[in-house]
Amino acid sequence: WPFHAPYVKAINDIKKTRNAVILAHNYQTPEIYHCVSDYIGDSLQLAKLASKSDADVIVQGGVYFMAETSKILNPEKTVLIPDAEAGCSLAASITGADIRALRRKYPGVPVVAYVNTSADVKAEVDICCTSSNAVKVVESLGVDTVIMVPDRFLAQNVAAQTKVKIIAWEGACEVHELFTAEEIEGFKADHPGLKVIAHPECPREVVEVSDFSGSTAAMIDYVRNKKPARVLLVTECSMADNIAAETTGTEFVRPCNFCPHMKRITLPKILDSLLYLRDEVVVDPAVAARARQSVQRMIDLG
Ligand code: 13P
Ligand code: SF4
Repeated sequence: WPFHAPYVKAINDIKKTRNAVILAHNYQTPEIYHCVSDYIGDSLQLAKLASKSDADVIVQGGVYFMAETSKILNPEKTVLIPDAEAGCSLAASITGADIRALRRKYPGVPVVAYVNTSADVKAEVDICCTSSNAVKVVESLGVDTVIMVPDRFLAQNVAAQTKVKIIAWEGACEVHELFTAEEIEGFKADHPGLKVIAHPECPREVVEVSDFSGSTAAMIDYVRNKKPARVLLVTECSMADNIAAETTGTEFVRPCNFCPHMKRITLPKILDSLLYLRDEVVVDPAVAARARQSVQRMIDLG
């Protein structure tokens, strides 16, 4: 913490000069999440906040697809990502050309894209979804079959909650695909009374042995509202760190897995980003206009 203080002060000062806001995902480290961010949330909350922002500059505390979503919703604003190499295994697993090929293979079947995708992919699909609204989005289309890309585990977990048939892509989150049901059962055996809450990017069998599954924001709400004595958050490591910093009376049982992409964002890089206005996120205006329709349709669902 002592090493963070000068950066925290400098970042919070320069934010005012630039009329900038920092949008931080729930997987950002505590010094970013608690000390310099203006808004925090899951992917849906961040997309909604980005669409309402009146700042001139948005700094994305998160990964590239999140910054692209902010740019898509705010074409006139400067959107910065402190490290443009902050990718995502899901976003990297599919391209716009793949969506066009899926449409040829399954004519007339609507395509739902998780927001963890590039602007090119968002531009080709019918609607986006996040982990917190995926079932609602799938059912909103009023059809019996949808294509859902790119997360096969999210698709399986959604399929378990709806009668709509889901054709899935083969992508996976490199953080959540590592968890196994055996590992979770072992922790339950070792820690009596343990509540297990899993992100829906986890394999189906992990969600099946959990007490609750939801987006990162829903997981935080679960801990805040239910105040479990012992909890295992089956997700990225910063989640437990961030909630533990504001929670008393709950023991956070590990394991967790780090997202190497989220961890590329640091206080020194955020300061550089604000000082030198880099790395600026640029999306082709024609692609952004089509991608915006897919994101906006999701936001309009409420
Ligand atoms: P949510 O915060 O929307 O649950 O997404 C989790 C995630 O993996 C984002 O990269
Ligand atoms: Fe992508 Fe998974 Fe990292 Fe989220 S946690 S950015 S889904 S690799």
